[in-house]
Amino acid sequence: MSFSKRLVAWYGENGRDLPWRHTQDPYIIWLSEIILQQTRVEQGMPYFFRFSEKFPTVKDFAEASEDDILHLWQGLGYYSRGRNMHKAAKTVMSDFKGVFPTKYEDVIKLSGVGEYTAAAISSIAIGEQRAVLDGNVFRVLSRYLGITEEINTPKGKKIFTAVANQMLHREQPATYNQAIMDFGAIQCKPKNPNCERCVFNLECVALQENKVAELPMKKKGKSSRNRYFHYFVLEDGEQILMSKRGPGDVWENLYEFPLIETDSLLDAGQIREYKALEDFFSSDVQLAEMGGVVKHILSHQNIYAQFYKVLNPQSLIWKKKSWNYVLLKDLNKLAQHKLIFTFIENNITNIS
Ligand code: ADE
Repeated sequence: MSFSKRLVAWYGENGRDLPWRHTQDPYIIWLSEIILQQTRVEQGMPYFFRFSEKFPTVKDFAEASEDDILHLWQGLGYYSRGRNMHKAAKTVMSDFKGVFPTKYEDVIKLSGVGEYTAAAISSIAIGEQRAVLDGNVFRVLSRYLGITEEINTPKGKKIFTAVANQMLHREQPATYNQAIMDFGAIQCKPKNPNCERCVFNLECVALQENKVAELPMKKKGKSSRNRYFHYFVLEDGEQILMSKRGPGDVWENLYEFPLIETDSLLDAGQIREYKALEDFFSSDVQLAEMGGVVKHILSHQNIYAQFYKVLNPQSLIWKKKSWNYVLLKDLNKLAQHKLIFTFIENNITNIS
């Protein structure tokens, strides 16, 4: 039996019953695929329910505010994905008369939809013969066929795209695509795959050649840059000072505390002496460190954050227009990035 047929048979016995597998609605499939690009199935599930319940149709999604979408997206990271979804939903309303497209060539025109998502939607919704290529597929195919090409180079991507399409089950592309993703997630896992009990263990090249742990091959990425963030926590009675981030940097349009970024980590004394502080506050700031330095890792950045409690909020005058007091009870309504909402959860009381 061919690889694709055996994989589909494996899926029949072992595939997961996931909520988005009970529909062929391209909008719902799109929601699930974008979320699952960002996180694993278990973590993605609550987000999927939240989004599909709050926005049952693409029209509801398009008419939402960006703040609402980012708020629901909170915790998934890569907030540009949430913003792109909003753009895509608006394009569906304006260019596709509100009918979510299903053909690969149409879906790929939507913001935030790349080759992977377009292949997933078009194959699952209408059975187009398009093989998906995500981390699972790279792993399964590189091991099964013993392909040592690096997966994160243009050449590697081209080779794997061609191979993936050759392996695709022609009659059942939807089932095959979901099968190979499940197989990667459940059986051919990155670490400690269960090769002893695997339907492919007689032919798997990586297993025969003892290369399972080495594959897939990856070219080393560029190194991360270090950034040093100093956050000011200004609580005044029932309210707290918040700042909305601007464009052109991480966490666009998300809320956080007033921030000073420096080239190295400064302590409370050094921050008070810091020259640029005059641009932020027109009076003397009294600070106390809240906890230690928090390290937050993004894809190409390591953020080192120190939070400071401002001890004299009433007498303080600040100069930034993007800073505004927010009632503590309304704090949870603002879309915040993880560094901030985790801090708030652990350190700020009296929020609802
Ligand atoms: N990961 C991304 N999309 C998936 C899907 N449709 N099924 C299983 N895992 C996935």
